Amino acid sequence: MTNKGIKNNDGSAYEQRSLFGRRQGRALKGERAKALSNILPLIEINTSLLKENHKTDPSEFFDKKFNNYQLEIGFGHGERLLELFQSNPDIAYIGAEPFINGMANFLKNIPTSQPTKNIRVLMDDGMIIAKSITPNSLDKIFILNPDPWHKKRHHKRRIINQTNLDIFATILKPKGQLIMTSDVPDLAQWMCIQASNHKAFEWEANSKDSWQIPPKDWIATKYEKKGAKGSKTMSYLFFNKNCN
Ligand SMILES: C[S@@+](CC[C@H](N)C(=O)[O-])C[C@H]1O[C@@H](n2cnc3c(N)ncnc32)[C@H](O)[C@@H]1O
Repeated sequence: MTNKGIKNNDGSAYEQRSLFGRRQGRALKGERAKALSNILPLIEINTSLLKENHKTDPSEFFDKKFNNYQLEIGFGHGERLLELFQSNPDIAYIGAEPFINGMANFLKNIPTSQPTKNIRVLMDDGMIIAKSITPNSLDKIFILNPDPWHKKRHHKRRIINQTNLDIFATILKPKGQLIMTSDVPDLAQWMCIQASNHKAFEWEANSKDSWQIPPKDWIATKYEKKGAKGSKTMSYLFFNKNCN
């Protein structure tokens, strides 16, 4: 089932679109509802910058320029993103998550006193951001445990496909990284084949099973901790954009 994109409140040309998956679960109350009204406006990407023409420098999302920009598409409840932006003030983090309850959980953990200069979010399809930002501008793109869309007839909904890989290849800096994970073997294999078949990407794996072991500084996402529980089928796929 599809649902339509949320409405803008700034009158920009940014379109509503179809997106597969949930936008809202249980009704929001208390601190999560409060965070959505108080914190989101402080860090929400101005949608007038989202024109899907690769013309927006990611620095325009922020009040200052950074040397390092990282995008996470589908951050879920955002625990990992929270830890990263809080502990790395010199890196600019951009996150997209259309699921309102996930976004609210992320926001409620940001204290009002917390500096938010290096985090910007969109409560919508992350591909809108990817299609809007300038070529060669991102250091990393994270797609962690994307929805698997198990049924064969739904495979076309998978976020990793050649069209989206073209877009990721455009916006990553040379040597920039595309990082994908999954505990679904069929999806991990799919993502690995799709990226390996793309001329812009090179798989970093250097030994037979190195994709099953996360790097030392890896921060597990909620889904990874809860769903996979150290599952032997967890795959960590690191691809580098080649410089040709
Ligand atoms: C299985 S969950 C994983 C969440 C998180 N990455 C984790 O590992 O805990 C997949 C998430 O991707 C989000 N998602 C799906 N399609 C998306 C898209 N096009 N842009 C942004 N988020 C998306 C869903 O709303 C959902 O929260």
